[in-house]
Amino acid sequence: MKIEKFEEIQLEELMLFLDENLNENYERVVFLNIRKRWPEGFLTVIDEGKIVGTCCGAILPNDKLRVLILVLQNDYQKRGIGKDLMDRMIRASEIFGVKKVTLEVRKDSDAIAFYRKLGFSSVDVLPCYYQDGCDGIVMEKQL
Ligand SMILES: CC(C)(COP(=O)(O)OP(=O)(O)OC[C@H]1O[C@@H](n2cnc3c(N)ncnc32)[C@H](O)[C@@H]1OP(=O)(O)O)[C@@H](O)C(=O)NCCC(=O)NCCS
Repeated sequence: MKIEKFEEIQLEELMLFLDENLNENYERVVFLNIRKRWPEGFLTVIDEGKIVGTCCGAILPNDKLRVLILVLQNDYQKRGIGKDLMDRMIRASEIFGVKKVTLEVRKDSDAIAFYRKLGFSSVDVLPCYYQDGCDGIVMEKQL
């Protein structure tokens, strides 16, 4: 298994991976823009030549890293890879002087417990934030 930077050639496979592993629908161009803005923060986890996880983020002007996506295929969860991806993103953001990490997560998601474990706290609720009407929880961590 290896963790590497996302490359444009992986776009079709990434779209299929996200379709199978997340509830939201995304436009391809969004991921090309995310990569263009901050390629070091866009990672894929590859096992046996296939994408089994990914994460990406954006550096915001106010010294913040916003995590946009962090997801692993079911059978790759709970092995420390999610924490590793978050650590790598935070490390890559250090040169921008990032002081805070922010993200949104579904109110009904198990991932809330994962983020708590990593030191994030819930700071806000976004009503009906997701496409199916689920509320979003804004979580933040001070670095
Ligand atoms: C959320 C997710 C990224 C976490 O990644 P992961 O690789 O499974 O988590 P890790 O193995 O790195 O776990 C790190 C710590 O969090 C804990 N943890 C992970 N998932 C947890 C859960 N559902 N409930 C409670 N604790 C959890 C682990 O036990 C571990 O604690 P430890 O360090 O004491 O052993 C992954 O489970 C996932 O892709 N879930 C589905 C997609 C999703 O919900 N993404 C987030 C959308 S915002």
